[in-house]
Amino acid sequence: MKVGITGAEGHIGTTLREGLGPEFEISSFTLGPQSFDSTVADLSNPAAVNEIFQGLDAVVHLAADPSPRGSWESMLKNNIAATYNVLEECRSSGVKKVVFATTNHTQHGDTMGGSPEILDMSRRVMLRLNDPLNPTSLYGVSKATGEQLGRYFATHHGVQFVGLRIGSTGRNDTPRGSEPRPSDDYNMAMFISKRDMIQAVSLALNIDRDFTLAYAISNNDARIFDMRETNDVLGFYPVDNSADY
Ligand SMILES: NC(=O)c1ccc[n+]([C@@H]2O[C@H](COP(=O)([O-])OP(=O)(O)OC[C@H]3O[C@@H](n4cnc5c(N)ncnc54)[C@H](O)[C@@H]3O)[C@@H](O)[C@H]2O)c1
Repeated sequence: MKVGITGAEGHIGTTLREGLGPEFEISSFTLGPQSFDSTVADLSNPAAVNEIFQGLDAVVHLAADPSPRGSWESMLKNNIAATYNVLEECRSSGVKKVVFATTNHTQHGDTMGGSPEILDMSRRVMLRLNDPLNPTSLYGVSKATGEQLGRYFATHHGVQFVGLRIGSTGRNDTPRGSEPRPSDDYNMAMFISKRDMIQAVSLALNIDRDFTLAYAISNNDARIFDMRETNDVLGFYPVDNSADY
């Protein structure tokens, strides 16, 4: 299967370029030139996106401003407009599927503490995929919009869409910092290891469903996301657990 990865130079892009390489034929899309082969395009510019996905079977759309503190201008450009351009280009080029990196931040307003990356443990509940959206930032709003763009393109334009509500992953592949941090409860709940991330995206590329939402977190004892529907629809059974780090 020929798979394009946008944001291929970023943290998750690097994990997936390396981890999906053996199973899929990967093409990389980046904002600037890289030390590896890539097509350079600012995805917020429709002219730059024109025909770049020709011949691909699927696109894993990671490119975005990933900051929960990002400005509205950046969200509109890099997250909302770019996601529309990617979906529209996939539709017009006949790319069958888009796997979209959405976020835990779309949903956990009911459980947040003082910031999007602090959980109020006194309000700890298990959230389910179909619970009402409750974004904790403009970033969360931008990703909730991406999920709905995906639903629209899946329902009305035949582009299969898998939105993975990713928890929290970092280059050092651990939920813990060197010192205790206010965000520790959040990280223990939201951690996803690189190994589990690769598994989730591989499954998303292989399933045959029109529209799917799923959680991409590890099998954390401290999770606040109910994984049962994700287990069923995606077949995703993460193997790592933040408690083991
Ligand atoms: N890392 C996490 O814990 C996490 C959690 C939830 C969701 N996500 C989502 O996963 C995706 C990847 O996250 P990451 O941690 O690898 O982020 P990252 O910042 O390392 O990578 C994102 C890449 O997107 C590129 N990009 C941004 N705007 C662009 C544009 N207009 N055109 C082309 N490229 C553009 C950037 O150059 C960057 O390399 C993002 O969509 C993010 O919102 C990440």
